[in-house]
Amino acid sequence: MNDLVTHIQHPLIQHKLTLMRQKDTSTAEFRRLLEEISMLLAYEVTRDMPLEKVPIETPLTPMNAPMLSGKKLVLISIMRAGQGILDGMLKLIPSARVGHIGLYRDPRTLIPVEYYFKVPTDIHERDMLVVDPMIATGNSAIAAVHRLKQTQPQSIKFICLLAAPEGIANFHTDHPDVPIFTAAIDERLDEHGYILPGLGDAGDRMFGTQ
Ligand code: URA
Repeated sequence: MNDLVTHIQHPLIQHKLTLMRQKDTSTAEFRRLLEEISMLLAYEVTRDMPLEKVPIETPLTPMNAPMLSGKKLVLISIMRAGQGILDGMLKLIPSARVGHIGLYRDPRTLIPVEYYFKVPTDIHERDMLVVDPMIATGNSAIAAVHRLKQTQPQSIKFICLLAAPEGIANFHTDHPDVPIFTAAIDERLDEHGYILPGLGDAGDRMFGTQ
C-alpha cells in the first residue's frame, strides 16, 4: 500500500469487523458493531486535526488548555449504506455538519445518475469526510467524489470499512488527491462486484432488507 491508503489495524476494529463479517450476526448486532467501529474510525481519521490553546479556569486555577481550532468538518454519507458510518461518527463529532449524496447506476448506460444531493452551504470552509462502508469497483465512490469536488471543500478524505484492491486502484486513478481510510483490504471482487471474502451487502445487512 501507499500513502494514499491508511489501513486501520486497531485490534478493537479488527475484532468487531470479524463479528460483522459472520453471516449469522443479526441486523441489530451488525448495526451496533458498525456504530462502534465508526466511532473508532472517526478517532483515527481526525488525529491530524489542529489544536489551539485557550484560556480556561479549572476549579483550582486558570490554565491554557488545548481545544480543536477553527477547522470545521462536514460528513458526507453516500446513500444508503453510508448512514451506518455516519451515525457512529456523529456520536464522536456531534457538531459536524452533514450532507447526503444518492447515486444509482443507469442499467442501460451504466453511468451513475444522481438522485439526491443536499450539502451545507458553507462547505468550501470545511474539511470533508466521505463515508461509505464498501469500496468495491470504486465506481460510485469515484462519481460521488467528482460531484462533491464541485462544492470545493478544503480537503476530502474517504472512509470505508472494506475495500477491494481493484476498487482502490480505480478510485485513485481518478482521485489521486483523496486518501482512503479503511479497516480492511480484502482479496478481490466476485463476478457480481461483491467484495470477497467481504461481509455481503452492507445496506441489506444494516437495514435487514435481504
Ligand atoms: N457493496 C456491498 O454492500 N457489498 C459488497 O461486497 C460490494 C458492494
